[in-house]
Amino acid sequence: MPLRVLVILLLVFMQQCTPDSCVYRDHITVLEGEPYHLKCCLPYDHHHHHRNSSIRWTKRYGSNRTMTLHSNGRIIFNDDAIEFWPIEMIDKGIYSCAVGNKESHWNITVTKRSEHGCFHPKYLITKEVEVGKSLIINCTHDLYQTEAYEISLFKDCSPIPGNHKANIRKNAVLNDAGNYTCIFFLYKNKRSFNVTKTFNVKIKDNTDTMPTLYGNSINYVEAELGKEKTLNCTALLRDPTAIIYWNDEHDNDTNIHKEKFNRSGSNGELYVSSLLKINFVKEENLNVWYNCTLASPGILETIGFFLKKKEGPTDVSRHIFIIVLVSSAAVIFLVIMCVIYRVDIMLCYRDLIRRDETLTAIFDDIHSLIKKSRRLIIVLSENYMADKVSYELESGLHEALVERKIKIILIEFTPINDFTFLPQSLELLKSHRILKWKADKSLPYNSRFWKNLRYLMPAKTAK
Ligand SMILES: *[C@@H]1O[C@H](CO)[C@@H](O)[C@H](O)[C@H]1NC(C)=O
Ligand SMILES: *[C@@H]1O[C@H](CO)[C@@H](O)[C@H](O)[C@H]1NC(C)=O
Ligand SMILES: *[C@@H]1O[C@H](CO)[C@@H](O)[C@H](O)[C@H]1NC(C)=O
Repeated sequence: MPLRVLVILLLVFMQQCTPDSCVYRDHITVLEGEPYHLKCCLPYDHHHHHRNSSIRWTKRYGSNRTMTLHSNGRIIFNDDAIEFWPIEMIDKGIYSCAVGNKESHWNITVTKRSEHGCFHPKYLITKEVEVGKSLIINCTHDLYQTEAYEISLFKDCSPIPGNHKANIRKNAVLNDAGNYTCIFFLYKNKRSFNVTKTFNVKIKDNTDTMPTLYGNSINYVEAELGKEKTLNCTALLRDPTAIIYWNDEHDNDTNIHKEKFNRSGSNGELYVSSLLKINFVKEENLNVWYNCTLASPGILETIGFFLKKKEGPTDVSRHIFIIVLVSSAAVIFLVIMCVIYRVDIMLCYRDLIRRDETLTAIFDDIHSLIKKSRRLIIVLSENYMADKVSYELESGLHEALVERKIKIILIEFTPINDFTFLPQSLELLKSHRILKWKADKSLPYNSRFWKNLRYLMPAKTAK
């Protein structure tokens, strides 16, 4: 019978069975491959007188065949016990030990461990621990504790990270639930054996039965200056002795008062709310903690509210004011710069758009002068011909020939052979309106040239 089962039985029959006594249960299940130790139940006086010489171990096969057992290396007799190193599947059956006329029987079943597990799911010692209470697992064994050369503690068949000891002592959390296996490593006849003992640990989540405060333990709350602010501390109480209260730092502030409300839930639970009201939030109410505590036997829970200043509308308008101020300063600065550097800016602007005002200005002047004129004097010269600018000429000719307001006088300053550059209309000009400049001959004021010119010009009293 595997020792883990023995241990279970020992725990169950703690009262009747000490390590030194026998197993009274007649059905025993043991794990294949583990050493197993079965003690004979002896009459009281036997311990002190005739020892194992008179103990007879038999095994029953079928309905009535029995066989006396002998030590064979794997099965040995040790004092008043029979030991298996280890027990195997073939060992299942009904065993008896007889001392005098007293006989005890056990029906031993041998089972395999679960395929990949280090324990059998049916042979577990159950431990139930509440969250927060202490979870203690000690790997102790009544028979093999001192004999073991090594003892290990595994959780769900794997080593426990950070725990190299064969025991655990901690405050239970939900994650602690699982199967904890103590493995006792033994040597016998130069062979290595191990015996296991597995605890099935269940963690009871008792949080739903305990009083609790609502909300986060730390709360950052915005409050507006001058406005009212209410902080709500609510607890779910199942324990009538539990109380909630605001910590007393703000008790002397007449600006603060507290109110309590109770409400019963549908399942008989009690909700208690304690409100802390600040009538007008002032600067000194900001950036400080308002802590609310729940106290009940074994529980002291606090949640804190930290008041932060809320950016009110006054601050928004201040921001707008600053923006307006900065932008008007920028505008004024720009205007001043434009006035100081207006010449440079204008020149730069002209360079950029490449405007040439000289081109039209002149044309308009010529046009208006031509309109005011009564004669158009055209002086033909080589230079004039080289100048391709013929706008004045064309415009004057238009006035003279089309509108017939101006009379033309053509002066040939230097002899000209090629007249093709002149508008064709000029060829219609009457010959007396063409004057030839004859160098020195025409120079004196009373010369033919000047007389002809005066003749062609409008009449005017001579000085
Ligand atoms: C314990 O012994 C069994 C059977 O001999 C073996 O299968 C298992 O691997 C051993 N466990 C360890 C942790 O050595
Ligand atoms: C306070 O909070 C609790 C839980 O959220 C809520 O039920 C209750 O109505 C609140 N009380 C007030 C006065 O706001
Ligand atoms: C209030 O709670 C905050 C946050 O938990 C903590 O830092 C502070 O010390 C507490 N104040 C008091 C007086 O308990």
